[in-house]
Amino acid sequence: MNRRHVLGLIGGAAVATGIGVPFATGIAGSTSTGRQFRSALRLPKPFTRPLTVPRVLDAAAGPVSIVQRPGMAEILPGIQTPIWGYGGEFPGPTIRARSGRPAIVEHHNDLPVPVVVHLHGGHTPPGDDGYPTDVLPLGGIRRYTYPGQQRAATLWYHDHRMDATGQSVWRGLAGFHLIGDDEDDALPLPRAERDLPLLIADRAFAADGSLAYPQAAEGVLGDVITVNGRAWPYAEVAGARYRVRLLNASNARRYRLALDPPGAIVQIGSDGGLLGRPVTHDAVELAPGERVDAVVDFGRYRPGSAVRLVNTFGSGSTRDVMRFQVGSRAADDSTVPARLSTVDPLPTPTRTRTFRFHAGGVHGMKGWLVNGEPFRPGVPVARPRLGDTEVWELTSDLHHPVHVHLGQFQVLGRGIRGPGAHDAGWKDTIDLRPAEQARIAVRFTDYTGRYLLHCHNLEHEDMAMMAEFETTR
Ligand code: C2O
Ligand code: CU
Ligand code: CU
Repeated sequence: MNRRHVLGLIGGAAVATGIGVPFATGIAGSTSTGRQFRSALRLPKPFTRPLTVPRVLDAAAGPVSIVQRPGMAEILPGIQTPIWGYGGEFPGPTIRARSGRPAIVEHHNDLPVPVVVHLHGGHTPPGDDGYPTDVLPLGGIRRYTYPGQQRAATLWYHDHRMDATGQSVWRGLAGFHLIGDDEDDALPLPRAERDLPLLIADRAFAADGSLAYPQAAEGVLGDVITVNGRAWPYAEVAGARYRVRLLNASNARRYRLALDPPGAIVQIGSDGGLLGRPVTHDAVELAPGERVDAVVDFGRYRPGSAVRLVNTFGSGSTRDVMRFQVGSRAADDSTVPARLSTVDPLPTPTRTRTFRFHAGGVHGMKGWLVNGEPFRPGVPVARPRLGDTEVWELTSDLHHPVHVHLGQFQVLGRGIRGPGAHDAGWKDTIDLRPAEQARIAVRFTDYTGRYLLHCHNLEHEDMAMMAEFETTR
């Protein structure tokens, strides 16, 4: 399907014909905009396989290299699924980088399609930001340089090719990129094997175990929840605090994550790194592209407890995410300090712009649009000046997780009842709910050039819900 083709029905979560099988029950309400597909094979019992953690490439030590190639992954137990992977793996290796030090990542394309690499949340010059038409062709090699002039944060990298991002990410092209810095290191937070990156993504499988990419202009939702590439894994944890870096790498699914039995999820960071102060939640909502860094204290559970991470937006197979198997109490000198970092409000804004994320008609066809227009490469809709603070007013019709490249922003207010204070720290993706308005303060620095603002429901993005802005001096 090409984004210029007619969109079918655009609605909330809709009943879908599955991958060969119609989906009959357990539709996840209207918590995500998308169509839920049902796998055409029998789903396994959850929590039968251990969580794995992607291998680490240390880009702080020197250039690293990634071969993008087809691979096989055991996402479901006993079933080999062909994937496209960074290093042939899903998720790709975790890149570790250091604030203030450039990270150089050399990508080789051994996939059957052109690719574009984007570092989501990266403060990246335009030439290496992964513009959707700036492709790495078949057989090509290319070095992406990420200067690292940004604070510690949980970032991720994924494919960003024009009209094809949904399919490429669905097949496996996603991984973590973690930036560390002295400020984060100096905090007494859980570290090493008690610092778990968790890449959460839903998928649906064809009868042969493949990840057929179904077509749904509203967004593709699967019936299997994977964490770090495995369906509903379990993790053996000590009775101690853990830092969990939650990333929603799903194409279109939104999650509301909670512990069962209930327990506190203490948020310490968001898309752009540490919050000023920790925030204790019963549950955290995560739209595609968003990250939440949190600390969970498993020492509060009795040894031997099984603690599920559940998605309270889901039902049936999409309600379970993973399970923590709590071991005996362990020595733990970590704490969550009352002050984590300093998040200064941006200076007074100099102008306001409005971006509407709505479905609409173009040339008699329905499409996903920004301010009534489909994405037009090379035609900037805004020219913010470096160093200026601007207020961007965002409005939505349905669920649209809006993502801004180049720099993190601050949320000034949101909600259909008008703005309200909301200390979300530094964000690069904001989860707009149906008929919502939000105001964000943006301020770009360092690099002039073409960047993107788009919906991170990947099917909406591929169907042109994207706009270009050009930063200027
Ligand atoms: Cu995570 Cu423009 O993308
Ligand atoms: Cu991005
Ligand atoms: Cu959208």
